[in-house]
Amino acid sequence: MEPIDNGPNPTGSGNQANFFSGARHVNAVDSNITNIGRDAHYTCNITNPRESKPKEMTADDLLLQTPQAPAVFTGRSNVVDEAIKMLSETSQVHIAILGAGGIGKTSVALHIMENPLIEDKFAGRCYFIPCEILADATILIQGLVQAIGLQVTQGKGPLGVLLDYLKGSQEVLFILDNFETPWNSNTQIEVKNLIEKICSVKPVSVIVTMRGTDGPGQIKWHKLGSQSGLPPLELGPAKKAFCSFSSDGNYSIKEDDSILEKLLIQMDGMPLAIMLIAQHAKELPLNDLMEMWNIENDCSAQENWGAGEQAYKY
Ligand SMILES: Nc1ncnc2c1ncn2[C@@H]1O[C@H](COP(=O)(O)OP(=O)(O)O)[C@@H](O)[C@H]1O
Ligand SMILES: [Mg+2]
Repeated sequence: MEPIDNGPNPTGSGNQANFFSGARHVNAVDSNITNIGRDAHYTCNITNPRESKPKEMTADDLLLQTPQAPAVFTGRSNVVDEAIKMLSETSQVHIAILGAGGIGKTSVALHIMENPLIEDKFAGRCYFIPCEILADATILIQGLVQAIGLQVTQGKGPLGVLLDYLKGSQEVLFILDNFETPWNSNTQIEVKNLIEKICSVKPVSVIVTMRGTDGPGQIKWHKLGSQSGLPPLELGPAKKAFCSFSSDGNYSIKEDDSILEKLLIQMDGMPLAIMLIAQHAKELPLNDLMEMWNIENDCSAQENWGAGEQAYKY
């Protein structure tokens, strides 16, 4: 597995020129992101140099790319509760968690997955699939087969085995995280056919997380948050998140600090930006962070205007 872009080191202070780099390369206009740690893009054709054959995706590869639900998590109880209610009360649900990189899609999906009601209902048949390492339709099928632990026997392809299993199974939940990776591959038609086939099997519910404003294929997705995706964090939850991220035992920033409010307004409620900047607040006063943010903001706005592009906005 070869990471193309490892993204920023969220905990390092870095030099001033790149101080906010991890929080900045986000373009919500077309939901492009170039520099996000958890969402780093990976090439998928893993080759063994000795055999120069693509390496099989294993269940461990999937597990190693599956993060824990983050402990600091504010302002999302309404969307999490909505999804849990739908999943527990309905036999089949298709939920899309959409929005720009860093808005909190994966975190919401993980919190839904770890809720006891969901764990009870799906009883070991809830599969988190980190699609950033499954970059085309064939590898995506392989990932699904591996996640469930199915054996592909001779005479039947992996997709046939997968669909047969799903048709005969009790309720299953797939969480297809970072689905934009296979979706944006040159096998989009196959990926579309695959997701439509999976969603049409009765006991299968699907949560897809994906950058952008639309879910994949001809599926009636229930979009969490709003029609355009997850909204930014409101000021109250943004303050709580910032203070939790920046607190280090004996020192913590007060939620009613007036500079904090100004700084957070600049962050536009983007959890990733809040988390990255709060890390720096352990070492630097808020005034300095505000000043540095403004300097960088001016520079990047000028660069963008120079390039004739729209200024970055979360
Ligand atoms: N509601 C939240 N409260 C606090 N931090 C959050 C929240 N949602 C996301 N984060 C943090 O923001 C960062 C990006 O979140 P993530 O879920 O990976 O975004 P996405 O999947 O949309 O790219 C992570 O470090 C995560 O811990
Ligand atoms: Mg994500």
